[in-house]
This record gives sequence, structure tokens and C-alpha cells, in this order.
Amino acid sequence: RKLVAVFASGSGSNFEAVVSAVAGDAASPYEVSLLVCDKPGAAAIARAERLGVPVYAVRPKSYPSREAYEADVVRELRARGIDFVVLAGYMRLITATLLDAYPNRILNIHPSLLPAFPGLHAVEQALEYGAKAAGVTVHFVDGGMDSGAIIAQEALAVRDDDTPETLYPRIQAIEHRLYPAVVRAFAEDRVRLDGRRVTVEGGLGL
Ligand code: GAR
Repeated sequence: RKLVAVFASGSGSNFEAVVSAVAGDAASPYEVSLLVCDKPGAAAIARAERLGVPVYAVRPKSYPSREAYEADVVRELRARGIDFVVLAGYMRLITATLLDAYPNRILNIHPSLLPAFPGLHAVEQALEYGAKAAGVTVHFVDGGMDSGAIIAQEALAVRDDDTPETLYPRIQAIEHRLYPAVVRAFAEDRVRLDGRRVTVEGGLGL
């Protein structure tokens, strides 16, 4: 069974979805064995404690450089035998230190149909733009902002009267189904990368 580290900075609802999807499943292909959190007061930490997942809480600013921060995180991941990394609302760009330690083994989820609306406040961006379709993207992480090869996407319709408060819960409901399915497929070595084209052997089962 593959050991997964989830990185989160905020509420941690996707972290919980990825953990809960395999809770009590003795045959599950992965286990979330670490939460890395760069915001000491984040709600994700309380979720981890409730779910019994060990936490590595870090303060990036207490390190002399971004490289030193990431090198310390990589040391912790290696010490715990982590196989791959799942970013779930981790609001920080990844640098070469982590990318080189886990090449093509870092996944991210983003609340838009990439390449539309990368970066912060993607749901607000889509509404302000007047998009009629919104969605969720799960992708490999590379050195850019939400720019890696796309593994899975799901769209939903934007309603005329939507606000961020009405649209975002529908997006999160998709995230909480889609991300555990992708993490499972990845843990089962069914995700193939060919240039920017990704195929999931056997599909996501959604
Ligand atoms: C999720 O909606 C995720 O797609 C988004 O942050 C949220 C975290 O929620 N990520 C990004 O915007 C990355 N650019 P959560 O903490 O409840 O899982």
C-alpha cells in the first residue's frame, strides 16, 4: 500500500475526503500517513487530529530560504517513506527541491477548468468573467502555477443567479468525489503520462 502525504493550508475538506474514502478499507491501495500544514492554526490540523493522521506543522518563514524549508519537508517525507504527495488547498508554489524529490509524483486539485482561471480565487474569477461552465481540475504539479498535465476534469453549469457562496459548494462536492478517485487510480499505478497527455487505465469509476 502506497503512503501518501497531503499538503493543506486551510480548511482541509479535500484532505478529509481523501482520508475518508479509504477509512476502514483493509484492501485500499493507499493510506494518508501525513498531513503537512504550513499554517499552524489551520482547520486541516484539527481534522487530522480527529482522523488520527500525523501532522507535520511548519512555519516556512522560520527557515532561511524557500529551499531550506522545502528541503526540511522532503527530509520528513523521506523519513516517513512517503510515496507520493497530494496538494489540497496548499497555497504555495512548489519549487525544484520538492519537484526533484518527487518527479511526477505530486498531484493538485484546482477549482476551475484549467487552463482557465489559474491561481487564487478561481471561482470568483469565473463568475466575474461570465463563464457559463465552471469545474474542477486534478493535475500533475510542475514548476508553474496550476500548469501541469491534466489528469481529470469535471464541469458543472453556472446558474444565472450564482454567487461564490452558491457555486463553490457545488464545486467542492465534485472535488470530494473526484480527488479520492484520482488518488486511488494513481496509487494503483493506473495513471499514465505521455507528454502532456494523461490516461487513466480502467478509468476513474465515477
Ligand atoms: C479547494 O477548493 C482547492 O481546489 C483549492 O483550495 C480549496 C481548498 O479547500 N485550491 C486552489 O485554489 C489551488 N490553486 P479545502 O481546504 O477545504 O480542501
